[in-house]
Amino acid sequence: MPVLDPKIPLLPGGLPILGHLPALKRDRLAFLERVQALGPVVAAPLGGRTPIFVTDPEVLQTVLVDQAYDFHKSSNYAFLERLLGKGLVTSEDTLHKKQRKLAAPSLTPARIASYAQTMVELADQRIGEWRDGETVDMTSELHLLTLDIASRTLFSTDVGPRIEALGKAFVDASRWVIGEAGSFLHWPFGWPIPRHRRMRKAMETLHRAVDAIIADRHASKHDGGDILSALMLARDESGEGMGHAQLRDEVITFLFAGHETSANALVWALFLLCKNPASWDRLVREVDDVVGDRLPGMSDLAKLPYALGVFKEALRLYPPVYLFGRTAVRDVSSGPYTFRAGQPVVANVWSLHRRSDFYEDPERFEPDRFAPARERALPRHAFLPFAAGPRVCVGNHFALLEGQLLLTRIAQRITLELATDVPTREPLITLRAAAPLHVKVRRRARQAPESS
Ligand code: HEM
Repeated sequence: MPVLDPKIPLLPGGLPILGHLPALKRDRLAFLERVQALGPVVAAPLGGRTPIFVTDPEVLQTVLVDQAYDFHKSSNYAFLERLLGKGLVTSEDTLHKKQRKLAAPSLTPARIASYAQTMVELADQRIGEWRDGETVDMTSELHLLTLDIASRTLFSTDVGPRIEALGKAFVDASRWVIGEAGSFLHWPFGWPIPRHRRMRKAMETLHRAVDAIIADRHASKHDGGDILSALMLARDESGEGMGHAQLRDEVITFLFAGHETSANALVWALFLLCKNPASWDRLVREVDDVVGDRLPGMSDLAKLPYALGVFKEALRLYPPVYLFGRTAVRDVSSGPYTFRAGQPVVANVWSLHRRSDFYEDPERFEPDRFAPARERALPRHAFLPFAAGPRVCVGNHFALLEGQLLLTRIAQRITLELATDVPTREPLITLRAAAPLHVKVRRRARQAPESS
């Protein structure tokens, strides 16, 4: 175990050997808040490891940006690798740089502009299926919608009837990953224990679906101009293409990373809007003034700052990636601190977004915090939903575009009323609501025309 810098305070208490692992398992978010109460750079023993939890922007700058290549992803990503293989989220060094170079051009702001229409049309179709007065499970609906959007835009594929099975497989696999990451003992994966069996079944479902997507594209020989084509057509210096296993890992990575986070952010955004009717009214006024009844498009976005503010404020209060970890691969200094090789470091995004020195009354939902002038005045890294540096979320522009457009279209067409209590939070790989968000849907009197 690397020697801990004595300048870094250690969270007191905890059990012998297990340290604070039981508290972390019991309530991850409460644990993160407890750590933060001791300071912005705090170590906590967790079953044989002592990660340092960070909300200090200068230290985050060192770890994520300035010295990013002196860190790898934390050892917990080994569990995520069972789900995502060696795709872009989990790969390191040369492989990561090579794959990122292939994928990034498909996700630039200019490139994703062409996805806007698909996003709105798919949203419109789904909203059209909700009947007036019906109680809708928004969690499930938004997961299916964002999965549909990811597969059509990134892979030009309609996963059609497989979509529900795929969504369930991702949830089962996430439960396994987070269960393993929070455990002290790890039984071999080949053993026939129920949670391993569920995980294997989930992976079989995902592999079958993704193999079909790849086979279809091979058969059609069509260049979709999307990420799948970029990955399939890539050749290295020797003229070799990407092997099937790598391609499959990337497709699963993009399907998962490209929908799960966005869906959760949208669920929280709608929940917050239901709880804050004045914000809902403001959003409706904005979309009515700017877009009226027609379908929103790229040219409207600059005139819809409140819709974007709502989405960003939801990302602040309920960041889907509420923490992420790194491990120093060599000794690194950051201001007064030294991290020894092997030291795990965790960006505590949940608490960072609640620092009262960055956000006045941080628990309050206030989308105007992200009005352009106020957002510019925030300290660097105070808002970190997408990480930063060379491993910054490659889909960040995609996610913001999707969030702003979907909230706009929803506010144009329906009103929502909460039909459940406050959903408790379930921090899996991403921060989900433990219970589905049920809302009663009413069509707006000023009815938008159907898109078809
Ligand atoms: C609100 C939505 C989203 C949030 C909050 C989010 C957040 C993040 C964060 C925090 C990371 C860095 C994780 C780490 O360093 O361990 C990340 C990486 C990544 N995200 Fe996103 N993401 C979102 C949407 C998307 C979308 C829509 C896509 C795909 C279109 C995507 C694809 C990826 C990929 C491939 C990576 C790995 C990038 C790399 O390491 O080079 N994400 N995301």
